[in-house]
Amino acid sequence: MNSAEVVAQNRQYWQALAPHRPGESVEFFRAGGSALNPDELAAVGDVSGRRVLQLACSVGDEALTFAGLGADVTAVDLAPTHLSTGRAKAGALGLSVDFREQDMMALDPELTGFDLIFISWGGICWVPDLTSWAADLSTRLAPGGVLVISEHHPLWEVLTVTAPMSVNGDYFAPARVGYADPLKAPEITRELESPILSRSFVWSLGALTTAVLAAGLTLRSLQEFAAPEMYAALGDKAAWLPATYLLTATR
Ligand SMILES: C[S@@+](CC[C@H](N)C(=O)[O-])C[C@H]1O[C@@H](n2cnc3c(N)ncnc32)[C@H](O)[C@@H]1O
Repeated sequence: MNSAEVVAQNRQYWQALAPHRPGESVEFFRAGGSALNPDELAAVGDVSGRRVLQLACSVGDEALTFAGLGADVTAVDLAPTHLSTGRAKAGALGLSVDFREQDMMALDPELTGFDLIFISWGGICWVPDLTSWAADLSTRLAPGGVLVISEHHPLWEVLTVTAPMSVNGDYFAPARVGYADPLKAPEITRELESPILSRSFVWSLGALTTAVLAAGLTLRSLQEFAAPEMYAALGDKAAWLPATYLLTATR
């Protein structure tokens, strides 16, 4: 299957899930809630007045957070229903986000000059070709612009974390069809019978940093974090393995 076919299958997969994924409520945002965690907020810095592009934005919760912080936000996703949900929330909150139905492997040519490109939590696994994706993004950043990737750690992706612990994927072979470990699937797929299998990728940190550097970007930081709840079966050793990471690179 080539990249375009992978994306076409994933569009169907996500569009089947999208009506069941509301994300955070309007009340959450009205009460001052943020869809970005403190590490992400520190990594992105002051976004007020900055041009932000969010990739694989889903129902727009992080995009709405950026908009609430004063950024000029464009947010893209494959699933039109996710985007409709995001637009409805933006309308209710009086926030402006340019939600666009776009494949992040084939972005509109006019989407350039961004101060920040952001992708997170189950976003990068939908990139079928990391090298060309990173190379394309580097051309869409303004000089000095920053790429921020906040994601599940690839080691967590290939481990099944219920006891006894086992390995559900090959760290060095990124492509996967469906989910070998249901804990890695979006929550809704555990309840929904979908005939459509997703096609996703576990990108190792080596593959990721190589692609970012090959794109001509400057790596600023690569932090790995523990998240004990993601390895709960390991008990008092649950914080001994990396669960998430946060990469920043600049043009
Ligand atoms: C798990 S969600 C991302 C989560 C998001 N960061 C959040 O916290 O809500 C994955 C999203 O990626 C989108 N997606 C998958 N492949 C894509 C592609 N090629 N281009 C754009 N979006 C894509 C899906 O439609 C889905 O909304």
